[in-house]
Amino acid sequence: MQALLADGRLTPGVRVPSERDLAAALGVGRGTVAAAYERMRASGHLVRRRGSGTWTATPTEAPPLPFTPAPSPAGTIDLAHAAPTAPAEAVTEAGHAALAALPAHLCSAGYDVVGLSALREAVADRLADEGLPTHPDEVLITSGSQHAHSLVARALVRPGDRVVLDQPTYPNAIGLVHDSSARPVPVSLERSDDGTLDWDVRALAAALRESTPATAYLVADQHNPTGAVMGAATREGVVDAFRRHGVPIVVDDSLRDTWIDAPPPPCLGSFAGPRSESTVITIGSLSKTVWAGLRIGWLRAPRALVRRIATTRASDDVAPPVLGQLMALALLERHDELAATNRARLRAGRDHLLRALPAALPDWSVRRPGGGMALWADLGAPRSSALAEAAPRHGLVLASGPRFGVGGAFESRLRVPYTLPLDVLDDAVVRLAATWDDLDRAPSVLTTVV
Ligand SMILES: Cc1ncc(COP(=O)(O)O)c(C=O)c1O
Repeated sequence: MQALLADGRLTPGVRVPSERDLAAALGVGRGTVAAAYERMRASGHLVRRRGSGTWTATPTEAPPLPFTPAPSPAGTIDLAHAAPTAPAEAVTEAGHAALAALPAHLCSAGYDVVGLSALREAVADRLADEGLPTHPDEVLITSGSQHAHSLVARALVRPGDRVVLDQPTYPNAIGLVHDSSARPVPVSLERSDDGTLDWDVRALAAALRESTPATAYLVADQHNPTGAVMGAATREGVVDAFRRHGVPIVVDDSLRDTWIDAPPPPCLGSFAGPRSESTVITIGSLSKTVWAGLRIGWLRAPRALVRRIATTRASDDVAPPVLGQLMALALLERHDELAATNRARLRAGRDHLLRALPAALPDWSVRRPGGGMALWADLGAPRSSALAEAAPRHGLVLASGPRFGVGGAFESRLRVPYTLPLDVLDDAVVRLAATWDDLDRAPSVLTTVV
C-alpha cells in the first residue's frame, strides 16, 4: 500500500479494508495486517477515523514548490519546464504583422476585457475545426491556459470546496487548488494490460459521488507529465459521469496539438452535447505549439459563465494586451503549419532522448509516449527530490516527481522534457547522470520512504 501511495496508484483519502477482510483476502493472519496497519498509522500513511474505518493518507500534504524559485546562473540547463523554443521567423513575422495592424486599435483605450473580437472569432473557428462548434461569445482571451484555469477557478471554486484532479498532473494546477483554499481529490490514471495509460471512469465516478467536488481539471490529450491520451470510449464515460453529477470539468487542451504518432480522438468537449448545457469548459493556448512567451490563451465556456468571468477579470489583469493578441491572430492563420513543424521537432527530441537516457542511466526505465513534451522516467528508487536538490550543482534545474502529484506521490519519478535542441539534450543527460552518480556517493534519507 505504501508503494502504491508513493507511485500515485493509490490516493490519499481512500478507505482501506478492515483488518479482518484484508487478512482473509490475502490469506495471512489478522495479526500480520494489524501490525502493518499500525506501522502505516505511525508513519502517517493511514489514519483512523472514529466510526468510519481506516483511510489512506500521506505524511506530507505540503503543496508543491513553484518551478525555478531562484534565478539560475548562466549556462544552467532548464529541464524543469517543458515547452518549445519559439519558431523565430514565424514569431518575428507575426510581430511585424501585429505592428502593422496596431494603428487601427489606437483610438480605443485597449481595455477589451473578453479580448479582441477578431481573435475570439479565430479561436472559435479553431475549436470548431476540432469538432467543438463555438460562438465567439463563448470565448474569452487570457494570458495563457494557466490564467484561463485560474479565472475559471475564481468563478467556480470556494474555500473548502473539493476539486478532482488527475494524479499525476500539471503542478501549477495543484498549486491553484491549494491557492484557492480548496482540497484536491486526486484520481489516478490506470494502466491497462497492454501497457497504455487511460482514465479510470469508475474511480472518477466514485470521486464525484463521494467528494461532491465543485469542479475537476483534466488533461485528456498528451497528458502532462505522462503523455497519456484519453481513449474515445473513455471520453464518453467521463463526460457522462460528470453530466450525471452536474460537475463542470475544466479540460486543458493546451497540449492537444503536440501528438507525435497519431492524432488524438475528438476533443473531450465535443462529447458534451448541446453547448448551453455543456459542463465542459475548454482551455487552451499557443504556448505548446508556438511559444509560451506570447502569453496568449483562451477559455471556452457557456456564455453566462464567460460573462461572469468577464466581470471578475477586472480585478485580475483587467484585459489582455492588444499587441500580443494581434500577434496571436497572425500566428493562428498559420497554426496547422506551425503545429506540424513543432511535431517534427518533438519527434526528433523524443526519439533522441529515448536513445540517450537509457544509455546513460540504465537503471531508469522509460516508456515511449505517443506525444507531449517529456518522458515520465521511473528512477527505480524514491530519489527524485534528492536528485532535483542536487541538480543545480551540476548546472541543471529539475522538477521532481512529487511536484506532479498530490500528497508526496511520485518520489520515484522524474519528468524529463525533450523540447531542448538535441545537443543541449545530450549535455543535459550527461549532467543528469553525473547528478545521479553523486547521489550514490551520498545516499539520501528519502531512500527509506518505501
Ligand atoms: C497541462 C498544462 N497546462 C497549462 C500549462 C501552462 O501553459 P500556458 O503557457 O498556456 O499558461 C502547461 C505548461 O507546461 C501545461 O503543461
